[in-house]
Amino acid sequence: MIVLGVESSCDETGLALYDTERGLLAHALHSQIAMHQEYGGVVPELASRDHIRRTLPLFHQTLQQAAMTQEQIDAIAYTQGPGLAGALLVGASFACGLGMALDKPLLGVHHLEGHLLSPLLASTPPEFPFVALLVSGGHTQLMRVDGVGQYTLLGETLDDAAGEAFDKSAKLLGLPYPGGAAISLLAEQGNPAIHQFPRPMLHSKDFNFSFSGLKTAVLTAVKKYPEPISDTDKANVARGFVDAIIDVLTAKCISALKQTGLKRLVIAGGVGANRQLRTALNAAAARKRFQVFYPELEFCTDNGAMIAFAGAMRLKKNPALATRDYGFNV
Ligand code: KG4
Ligand code: ZN
Repeated sequence: MIVLGVESSCDETGLALYDTERGLLAHALHSQIAMHQEYGGVVPELASRDHIRRTLPLFHQTLQQAAMTQEQIDAIAYTQGPGLAGALLVGASFACGLGMALDKPLLGVHHLEGHLLSPLLASTPPEFPFVALLVSGGHTQLMRVDGVGQYTLLGETLDDAAGEAFDKSAKLLGLPYPGGAAISLLAEQGNPAIHQFPRPMLHSKDFNFSFSGLKTAVLTAVKKYPEPISDTDKANVARGFVDAIIDVLTAKCISALKQTGLKRLVIAGGVGANRQLRTALNAAAARKRFQVFYPELEFCTDNGAMIAFAGAMRLKKNPALATRDYGFNV
């Protein structure tokens, strides 16, 4: 079964073709980051309009890459939500229009399920069950995953998402949007002994997170420096921030593994690309004897491959989920 995946929930247009027999056949992506950068964040109206411009060319690109025709597609999976309404509507309308024209069934996919299953696209995928840490721009969740569709929420953020904390702290340091990767790079030049920022909820007995206090601590530290803040001071603040957030994320993963008794940890979402997080988790995995799995770097942030894959996994389990009801839902 060949599934077309369409992702358009935020600022990336992603199209992909996944075959349940042969794996990922093709994927194409357009990131709108450069367009939104001058506004310091995603402008929803611009995002929707750009998805309109990009979707069809990217669709043709994926077909060409896979050397196949649109008639060979068996089903279409599109991101149903959560996301920006206008942006989601573009992908959903495209999927429905194409489905109707080709008489192919559709499936709406939850964006977070796409992220959650994306590590299974890697060359050495994890087996079920596992503990998953989903760290994206909009969400931070710890889950127990027993199979496709079998997810138990263990904990989540009570305020900002991890990616949001990265982006907001980066903005306070004058770094361009989205600042996650930039603040992480800057932190590598920082001195870890200068700023000891709070580790929010590190010792709470649950699996919840809270990152808004950490962002406030960054703001307070930045304000203490005379303007303009020097590059060295910026790097030291970045280091303090990254050390604190990584400590919390790592500690909560370890306690979730301990509580569930599972030995496999899976990381998903944009922050899963973070080098310090990977270093800390790899060290913990060696020390505590568990395995840790990550998505390929290109599939950490939003992409069509994860939607095609999640759709294909859902349909493999239950083909009746695919519908020819083209009155879509986002
Ligand atoms: O998963 P994703 O595409 O977004 C949502 O679905 O919400 O992830 C985007 C987030 C942004 O907040 C971005 O700054 C963060 O992932 N991110 C990183 C890194 N690369 C992307 N954060 C920290 N370190 C990185 N290397
Ligand atoms: Zn996402």
